[in-house]
Amino acid sequence: MKEVVLKKFEELYGDTQGVNVYFAPGRVNLIGEHTDYNGGHVFPCALTIGTYVAVRKRADRKLNFYSMNFENLGITESSLDDLTPSEEAGWTNYPKGVMWAFAGRGMVMDCGLDMVLNGNIPNGSGLSSSASLEVVTGYILKDLYGFDVTNVDLAKIGQYSENNFNGMNCGIMDQFASAMGKKDHAIFLDTANLSYEYAPLVLDGAKIIVTNSNVKHSLVNSAYNERRSECEKALNELQIVLNIKGLGDLSEEEFEANKDAIKDEVRVRRAKHAVYENQRTIRAVEALKNNDLKLFGELMNASHVSLRDDYEVSCEEIDVLVEEAWKVDGVIGSRITGGGFGGCTVSIVRDEAVETFKERVGAAYLERVGKTADFYVVEIGDGPRRLV
Ligand code: GLA
Repeated sequence: MKEVVLKKFEELYGDTQGVNVYFAPGRVNLIGEHTDYNGGHVFPCALTIGTYVAVRKRADRKLNFYSMNFENLGITESSLDDLTPSEEAGWTNYPKGVMWAFAGRGMVMDCGLDMVLNGNIPNGSGLSSSASLEVVTGYILKDLYGFDVTNVDLAKIGQYSENNFNGMNCGIMDQFASAMGKKDHAIFLDTANLSYEYAPLVLDGAKIIVTNSNVKHSLVNSAYNERRSECEKALNELQIVLNIKGLGDLSEEEFEANKDAIKDEVRVRRAKHAVYENQRTIRAVEALKNNDLKLFGELMNASHVSLRDDYEVSCEEIDVLVEEAWKVDGVIGSRITGGGFGGCTVSIVRDEAVETFKERVGAAYLERVGKTADFYVVEIGDGPRRLV
């Protein structure tokens, strides 16, 4: 990949003298979905796929962006004097948002950049191509301009810019997983205070398989923002009777005893998911520590049911993938992963069942949905870095 972006850079900008190449990964979340903006726990890991960027400083204030994933767009031109979001800016709103967020923290770039990007995260798959783009941009700014930020800061800045520049009210999980990724480890993150722990993820005799439904339903961002505000409302109602900061503060018992404070049936289900999913995540990590993969898998399955029925962020295509996965012998657990409304599922599958899994789930998906699913046996990789 680094040769590919360098070659393109030379083609577009003349030569590769003084050009650097950077990478930041995408992520898959194993369990802990829609808990990160509720002060709960998440358990994602960084992937070995992500976003590659060849970049060089310019003498003036121009910004030139080029993505090999959208070659038809050509070079999108902008400038440091135009760090405002716009529809025409398309995908470049992500790197521009990060530059804007750095500037807002007093870290002001004194010259522009020429960039070539290439990502190998399938588009719209829910494996966080946008977070990887935000994190790689932040890492580039830190490295090229000497800004004093940690990788945790990169995650916070990425989330801040996505919330405030791109209008997507996401939590911090995706940016944190990309910025703090560690090979062969998942990250057990408490989003209430950003304390975290790395859990080794060398699964004995099993693999993690990501299945791409190849569907992404429209209005994902607005449905996501709506879920988030439903949870905030439910929290406000609970705060009338309880002294809590987030839904993640509650045990299942405390929730059941106080849920009548929530005055709407839909909001009760949303909040129930947030509370139970957080407890499932804590239990799942404990199960993994005890080498109890069976329990880990059961908790993944329960997570799916809750996301499907109570949180309502699944969709028909994803439910077919999960149901068909559950039928295959040797599948330890399977669930939707990421924001929802399409995208991917994550499954833990015994080594000897991997081929059958792909065949059966793939065939059933084609038959029932009329679409092809893609399967990736996932490798867990490190966070952002400079490659050249
Ligand atoms: C998206 C968001 C994350 C998180 C997940 C759901 O990926 O970007 O912050 O909320 O959805 O768990």
